[in-house]
Amino acid sequence: MTDPTDRPSTTDADESTSRFQAWFKARLPIFWDNGIAAAGSVIGVVTLALLGLMLLLFVANTITGRDSNPYVDLVGFLVLPAILAFAVVLLVIGNVVRRRRERTEGRSHTVLDITSGRFVRRAVTVVGICLVAFVGLGMFSFEAYHYTDSNQFCSTVCHEVMEPEATTHATSPHANVKCVECHIGPGASWFVRAKLSGLRQVYAVLTDDFHRPIPTPVLNLRPARETCEVCHWPTQFHGSHLVAHPRFAGDRENTEQTTALVVHVGGPEGAAETTESSGIHWHVDPRNEVRYRHLDRKRQEIVEVVQTTPDGEVRYQLADAPADSGEWRTMDCLDCHNRPTHIYHLPHRAMDMALSTGTLDADVPWLRKEGERVLREVTPTDDTAAAIAVRLREIYREEHPDDLAALEAAIEPTSRALADILERNVWPGMNIDWGTYESNLSHFDAVGEFGDGGCFRCHNEMLESDEGDVISQDCEACHALVAMEETDWDGIAGIDAAAFRP
Ligand code: HEC
Ligand code: HEC
Ligand code: HEC
Ligand code: HEC
Ligand code: HEC
Repeated sequence: MTDPTDRPSTTDADESTSRFQAWFKARLPIFWDNGIAAAGSVIGVVTLALLGLMLLLFVANTITGRDSNPYVDLVGFLVLPAILAFAVVLLVIGNVVRRRRERTEGRSHTVLDITSGRFVRRAVTVVGICLVAFVGLGMFSFEAYHYTDSNQFCSTVCHEVMEPEATTHATSPHANVKCVECHIGPGASWFVRAKLSGLRQVYAVLTDDFHRPIPTPVLNLRPARETCEVCHWPTQFHGSHLVAHPRFAGDRENTEQTTALVVHVGGPEGAAETTESSGIHWHVDPRNEVRYRHLDRKRQEIVEVVQTTPDGEVRYQLADAPADSGEWRTMDCLDCHNRPTHIYHLPHRAMDMALSTGTLDADVPWLRKEGERVLREVTPTDDTAAAIAVRLREIYREEHPDDLAALEAAIEPTSRALADILERNVWPGMNIDWGTYESNLSHFDAVGEFGDGGCFRCHNEMLESDEGDVISQDCEACHALVAMEETDWDGIAGIDAAAFRP
């Protein structure tokens, strides 16, 4: 593109130069005829120059292997090409205006003489410019496409907003799965949908107009069938697996215990059409369908469940369920695995994990109990570890004065480790507290007691069929308890603890 201000005002004697100028002048109106076209030219030239700079920076970064700055990338790959496209639109409008005027002035060439040299030259120029513009824009859009698909774009550009998600993702079993592989999946239509909603989100972040915490479940998440099931085939689950959770008691010795259970993951045995499916993945056998009606956005208050199998349909309902309110949903992976990657821990479980891995020293008396207490009481600050140390000392001075010395000996690593747990799970800037994002994969509440969430949203006594049947609550249907921590289960949900203790 030519910068019109460079136009020389004098004509030289040299014949070839003047020929060039005449040629140039004749075509200049395209870029400079009126205000709109001129604005398009100026914006276009400036943007092209900046894009060139970006390209140099990109090459330099590639050669030196340095990480690029996400904000520079955002401008380079998304904003500049958009401005360039805008400049081209201005040029086109400017020239439509020019043609109109020429026509009313009677200067228009209404007859197209495709054999004239003038026409051929013009056509070649126009096609040439378009080609360069398209190839250039195409290259940038391709980079932009990859860029907006990167974890870096998803999490760093919107740093404060996505930090909890990026942190939990980075320490999950799916750390190597890109954000877009779950949130967008393959295919053009979801790509367009995601980018449109993404544009809205970038705007929301720029104007600071978004929910804290980000609401869950994510309503327009692509169906699990097209994301999770690309990697996990529902007909290939089978059998049971042994799960052992290390646990520590709240006594002075932090006595170690283990909860071990054989979880009946199940599913259709192999891919055989004839075999009965069993166990937990019965729900995702393609032959079965479970639909449910929930009253709240978070899908926790379930008032009606319809189970459809090759044997027919069974409807379970809450006796006093409000009719026709709420929303229907067909159960898929995400109704149980709603936290496959953004996994937040609860304080008691985080303590158990840290003690079992040695991040926290189980030799510090009372640490399991008081550590959990401090995690629930303190909120992250600029110096979380210091705040935790202060509170720990207070508690030990008041309640375990004899063990204060043992705490002091380990205060540095202990408060640091507790601060790490706190800062990974609690995000005051986003209003994320303990238990804000609950997991549906079990049936325990935020303090580790038998709850009515997770599986028990459906597997309970309240949802009844016309025949008076309920959805199974048999402990053994889901898992066999092999070893269990010394919790007093008696009286909780009418359980006879002795009945299933090994
Ligand atoms: C293994 C699949 C997977 C990957 C990888 C993944 N997510 Fe998610 N994400 C989910 C699921 C599932 C939900 C919860 C959906 C629901 O409850 O309906 C979710 C929820 C979210 C939410 C809403 C807040 C919340 O925690 O519920 C945000 C924001 C988010 N993800 C961002 C990201 C970002 C950023 C990345 C990459 C750093 C990422 N996700 C990677 C599956 C994934
Ligand atoms: C791009 C492939 C990919 C996608 C998409 C994907 N996963 Fe995974 N998932 C994996 C891999 C690989 C592992 C094994 C990680 C390991 O064992 O370290 C895994 C592990 C798991 C596990 C076992 C976790 C554990 O604690 O061992 C669950 C449950 C799971 N995925 C559920 C899901 C769900 C639900 C979705 C959809 C939201 C999903 N996955 C999407 C690749 C994927
Ligand atoms: C009814 C709830 C439920 C549904 C629906 C469900 N799962 Fe699971 N899934 C579980 C439970 C419970 C476990 C065992 C977890 C444990 O023991 O830690 C499990 C285990 C897994 C594992 C680990 C398997 C192994 O043998 O180690 C993967 C992977 C997985 N699920 C993926 C999926 C995918 C993909 C879908 C959707 C096609 C799905 N699940 C649907 C509840 C469910
Ligand atoms: C949306 C409702 C709903 C939720 C949530 C739910 N289930 Fe179910 N589940 C059902 C229905 C309906 C049946 C079939 C009726 C029955 O077997 O009693 C069923 C059946 C089962 C079965 C028996 C399968 C067989 O062999 O017949 C197991 C095991 C099971 N669920 C485990 C779980 C686990 C584990 C969870 C939580 C991680 C869970 N379910 C969550 C509705 C649900
Ligand atoms: C509908 C299926 C289902 C039923 C019924 C069920 N559970 Fe569970 N239970 C689960 C799932 C899923 C988990 C999580 C497994 C894991 O931690 O990997 C679990 C975990 C547990 C744990 C381990 C908790 C921990 O983290 O240490 C205990 C203990 C337990 N259940 C006890 C019971 C008892 C007792 C009953 C019977 C009154 C019962 N469950 C009924 C699905 C069920």
